[in-house]
Amino acid sequence: MANTNDWWRTAVIYQVYPRSFADSNGDGIGDLPGITSRLDALSELGIDAIWLSPFMTSPQKDAGYDVADYCDVDPLFGTLADFDALLEGAHARGMRVVVDLVPNHSSSEHPWFQEALAAGPGSAERARYVFRDGKGENGELPPNNWLSVFGGPAWTRVADGSWYLHIFDSSQPDFDWANPWVHERFREILRFWLDRGADGFRVDVAHGLVKADGLPDYTPNPDLASMGGDEELAPYWGQEGVHEVYRDWRKVLEEYGGDRVLIGEAWVMPLARMADWVRSDEMHQTFNFGYLETPWDAAALRAIVDESLAAFGGVGAPSTWVLSNHDVIRHPSRLALVPPPPQGEGIGPRTQPKPDHEVGLRRGRAATAFMLALPGSAYVYQGEELGLPEVADLPDEARQDPTFLRTEGRNYGRDGCRVPIPWEAGAPAAGFNTSGASWLPQPAGWDGFARDAQRGVPESTLEFYRSTLTVRRDRGLAVGSIDWLPSEPQVLALRNGDVTIVANTGSAPVPLPDGDVLVASGPVADGMLPGDTTVWLV
Ligand code: GLC
Ligand code: CA
Repeated sequence: MANTNDWWRTAVIYQVYPRSFADSNGDGIGDLPGITSRLDALSELGIDAIWLSPFMTSPQKDAGYDVADYCDVDPLFGTLADFDALLEGAHARGMRVVVDLVPNHSSSEHPWFQEALAAGPGSAERARYVFRDGKGENGELPPNNWLSVFGGPAWTRVADGSWYLHIFDSSQPDFDWANPWVHERFREILRFWLDRGADGFRVDVAHGLVKADGLPDYTPNPDLASMGGDEELAPYWGQEGVHEVYRDWRKVLEEYGGDRVLIGEAWVMPLARMADWVRSDEMHQTFNFGYLETPWDAAALRAIVDESLAAFGGVGAPSTWVLSNHDVIRHPSRLALVPPPPQGEGIGPRTQPKPDHEVGLRRGRAATAFMLALPGSAYVYQGEELGLPEVADLPDEARQDPTFLRTEGRNYGRDGCRVPIPWEAGAPAAGFNTSGASWLPQPAGWDGFARDAQRGVPESTLEFYRSTLTVRRDRGLAVGSIDWLPSEPQVLALRNGDVTIVANTGSAPVPLPDGDVLVASGPVADGMLPGDTTVWLV
């Protein structure tokens, strides 16, 4: 790209979930020195940037998405010096680092919230958060009927009788973004990480923050994803006022040379509405959850790709493409389930039918090859380059996601995609550390997916990812544009520059067009493209 400030338009951004990536001290929880020690593996994969899920000081009630100090590293993960070393190591290898920022809520252990509790009703400290009087004769009922995304009520009552709002866990009180004090604190937090050299922020719950005036009652459709994503907006999602926040933050970022980025987690639909988050004076990109939630079906994929390019292109932003992250069922397992369970439900021992691993991996690789052929920026979640499935057999006692706890186990939640990843076959904890400890148990045979067992093995998922990313870059696919080609209904065929991409989402083989195969997600032979397979040809 001519303008390196625009690196994010085409970037492949790799999500590191610190607690499950690499553990340097053997306590069973991944940490920053662990990540630093493994940077060569990421550089070798051919990614442009790393997004780090939260590593700030936190009681870890929601795996770090409950922050008790926005400007320090939790001792579990290391120190600020370890962060600096990680940043330096990444930059030395030409990779940028994006930090996760959680502005919708803090931890209830954050001093700001503790001060609010101590200061009492009506104080300036309470005005940092959303405290309200309850309903009922003695205020014994919550101020409204809102439910937590993780299950149960969205309000908790404190000793003096007031209630505070928490759209997530009760340990995650929502800030009151109507209060300028909150805006000032977050500008300082942005500057803290920008001054340290962070290349930008992934903004958690970027469609939350601002709540509708008067906090009106709202009953969500139980069949829809709890994070939002419904065409109808809840009074706590997608309120107009959030855009003011990002316009303000964009100005802060622009003071730092123009190449720092804001990436929004904005679960709003349709994509034309999500595109409001990436207007030219707001964020740089948002996760394309519409794409993530699309099943492995040619017509549906074609429609969402067109919708994405039109929606984001309409505001001059790149589309992004994403299939997996730390909140959803890993895509090989998810695509093997038709229909997939809704976000947050997860899979576990009770789930029937179980995803077929073989079908899942084949489909997952085909979906990845299709995704990486599309113009724009793409996300890869740690371990997908190893072909990891969702771990469905975690025992109840091992589960830690507040979703599981708050729904009394009705929803398995997100632990199954968060299991520490394997590095070395036959090593303790599959090379995640040297002690063998692992905060979530690794399933039997996990080391069969180990990176060292796949390195240099041409048909391995790791080498498939690596070569696909190389061809994507060499052929300029990320800066290209696409034209659909005529095809059978279960097939997606398109051109991007001089590359023809054909994805067979069906199960019956179809004839392979002429040309040299640059990338194949699975074996192709005798001029036929098998089901659940994608090829790139020239
Ligand atoms: C986002 C995060 C998720 C977290 C939630 C609350 O959706 O990705 O992991 O639980 O926000 O912070
Ligand atoms: Ca550790």
